[in-house]
Amino acid sequence: MASMEKIVSLCKRRGFMFQSSEIYGGFGGFWDYGPLGVELKRNVKEAWWQDMVSSHNELLQPVGAPSGYEMVGLDSTIIMHPQVWKCSGHYDLFHDYMVDCRETKKRYRHDQVRGRWVECKDQKVFVTSNAEIEQEDAEIQRRALKFFRLRGKDADQLKYDGGFATLDTIDDMDRVLGPDAKQIGTLTEPREFNLMFKTTVGALGGDDDVAFLRPETAQGIFVNFKNVLDSTRVRVPFGIAQVGKSFRNEITPRNFTFRSREFEQMEIEFFCPPNQSQEWYRYWRDRRVAWYTELGLSGDSIRMREHHTEELAHYSTGTADIEYAFPFLDEGEFGELEGVAHRGDFDLRSHMEGKLDPSTNPLELETDERGKPKYRGSGRDLSYRDDLTNEKFVPHVVEPSAGADRATLAFLCEAYREDEAPDEKGKMQTRTLLKFHPRLAPLKAAVFPLVKKDGMPEVAKEIYGELKQHLPVFYDEKGAVGRRYRRQDEVGTPYCITVDGQTLQDQTVTVRDRDTLEQWRVSTKDICDEIRQRIRS
Ligand code: GAP
Repeated sequence: MASMEKIVSLCKRRGFMFQSSEIYGGFGGFWDYGPLGVELKRNVKEAWWQDMVSSHNELLQPVGAPSGYEMVGLDSTIIMHPQVWKCSGHYDLFHDYMVDCRETKKRYRHDQVRGRWVECKDQKVFVTSNAEIEQEDAEIQRRALKFFRLRGKDADQLKYDGGFATLDTIDDMDRVLGPDAKQIGTLTEPREFNLMFKTTVGALGGDDDVAFLRPETAQGIFVNFKNVLDSTRVRVPFGIAQVGKSFRNEITPRNFTFRSREFEQMEIEFFCPPNQSQEWYRYWRDRRVAWYTELGLSGDSIRMREHHTEELAHYSTGTADIEYAFPFLDEGEFGELEGVAHRGDFDLRSHMEGKLDPSTNPLELETDERGKPKYRGSGRDLSYRDDLTNEKFVPHVVEPSAGADRATLAFLCEAYREDEAPDEKGKMQTRTLLKFHPRLAPLKAAVFPLVKKDGMPEVAKEIYGELKQHLPVFYDEKGAVGRRYRRQDEVGTPYCITVDGQTLQDQTVTVRDRDTLEQWRVSTKDICDEIRQRIRS
């Protein structure tokens, strides 16, 4: 896979993604999508909506599903009643721990970082006695490794874990590093840090007016569960899908758009009878992995990983992460693309009663002076009565929760290729291409006149106008045709259509395939259907 530097550089050069507020030096953790990036991300979100919601047929039982099911959509607000976040657990529990290096003032996201900044031969590195530091701090990892190489240390004195160098015990550090490794930094005690962005609603702006930007779209679905049931004819099992922005004040946003402070989620809350929930959990896990592979993520780069019990979120009785081998990770490492969680009845019950089983819900411990739970629920009945069996229950929830930005980044990384292809003079040259699935490609075709004369531009513009009514297409008449092909390969356009001398004789054009470089002729009257058909397949 290509290096992250090359992918980031292409994204900027060709208008996929830009740093937010770049002219002011950027703003950490925020990213803008440029003209091609916005099309790519829209295609990712539309493919998700199309495959999960609009084209889903509730009359059929999908392979692996316990039964047929309905899917409906929702678009809830970003700012909701503050009580939503108290009952969901986010107000109390949605935090990370941060530590600061006292000397360098650098901030880290972790609860148990132990280690020291040391300086040796003008190198400043962070050395830790265990592998608990966030593995993702690639810069520190690189510097640590460089430092150890510089010191000529024996590899067996050090443990390499995901590229980060560690020592057996912190006491070993002085012995291994030697007397000239001067300690220059120590870390503060871990401090709790809630990840929700605060805002105020209303003119007064006092404590009572504090509200939050949603850190997940899921809660908008739970608080509308009853509205959807009452306003539609859905029956359990069914799913509610939502795509939208979420916000988290991440302590260490990094790795391009992978961990940002403003991002988009594509979430499904799937409501099912409690006794079927495990079967539905398995179904959604497999269905979601299949979705990524159908759109191009290859078998080696994607995997599913079940969480260990201690990793589970406060609401979850089972979670599987769908992970991708992003190029900014070390060999053999994977980063989360999507979580599929079994949330039980945690959310509906919290919004209903505001108190839960104390063994699974720490909110129970929050009591007021009369011993009542501090966060009362809505008091609304969020249970479901099956009109066929007359059985009443609070549905269990399986939640496939995907990040639109992470999916977009994974499709971009997977698509990036370099190969050798002949230029217009037949000389082999390195070619950069984005091998997107045609459904995801920002532009589906480009139309070129071979030269800007003899009536070729007129014919090409006519074809362009016709195709443009149906698909995002690009028209280009500038420069050598070989260069124009390369520019389209680099942004992942699957087909290039060229109007040449022969077109004027027999009304056929050349179509060129981005991946195989194969060329063939198609009559001008059929070109629109041909491209549309190929894009669909
Ligand atoms: N409703 C459950 C939930 O939000 P999550 O694992 O915290 O679960 C789901 O988030 C997905 O949202 C992640 O798998 C990831 O794709 C995306 N995501 C979460 N935090 C993100 C961030 N800071 N930047 C980009 N994407 C993020």
